[in-house]
Amino acid sequence: MRIPIIAGNWKMNNTISESLELVEAIKTSKLDEKVEKVVAVPFTSLMEVKKSLEGTDIKLAAQNMHWEEKGAFTGEVSPLMLKEIGVDYCIIGHSERRQYFNETDESVNKKVKSALTHGIKPIICVGETLEEREEGKEEEVVKEQLLKALEGIEKEDIENIVIAYEPVWAIGTGKTASSEDANHMCGFIRRIIGEKYGEDTKDTIRIQYGGSVKPNNIKELMDKVEIDGALVGGASLIAEDFVKLINY
Ligand code: 13P
Repeated sequence: MRIPIIAGNWKMNNTISESLELVEAIKTSKLDEKVEKVVAVPFTSLMEVKKSLEGTDIKLAAQNMHWEEKGAFTGEVSPLMLKEIGVDYCIIGHSERRQYFNETDESVNKKVKSALTHGIKPIICVGETLEEREEGKEEEVVKEQLLKALEGIEKEDIENIVIAYEPVWAIGTGKTASSEDANHMCGFIRRIIGEKYGEDTKDTIRIQYGGSVKPNNIKELMDKVEIDGALVGGASLIAEDFVKLINY
């Protein structure tokens, strides 16, 4: 049985005080205990949100990290820094980082390896652009991103990895992939994992869908056999909506 995982990616939203307000509203709501809940907050809010989450079962994620432990990398944040705060997960390779900050499959791979080494669970994002989908290349693109991200990763680490399928054209656009398309692509990702690591991993790896997930479409997505969770942007910034997503 794969435990459903609903993660809110706050992106570059919320000051520390705003973060605390949002997390307070979430944690004091009635939340489904059978669902794993994650909030991916800005670096500046991690510490305070961690303190606020103490005693709850809500997990904490960063939205990015550098792969080196320390050094002359102005403006970067290292896995050691995240680990000391007590971060559980780190989103790696989000399409916004690939698009605006030169994230490449190679840097994604380095970050995934480093996160695992430091006991931080990577949420690896993959997904095609609209152009790639219109050319019918979505499987090819996603397969390449996935295999490059997982290069050199051992089978025993797969249980600590979550994959998020986020078609770029569905992010922040209000256009959700149809639940059939999302299910198809999550199933495709699962097959690739199975081919690389064996049948057992295929059944345990958790795969999220992300892209305009809202309270009115979560149930349909989560009802699909291949979809184990959601990585949510916009709707995770509204406590009431995020709670509805958790309690889908
Ligand atoms: P939206 O839910 O705002 O489309 O964002 C999805 C996303 O990018 C989550 O990482």
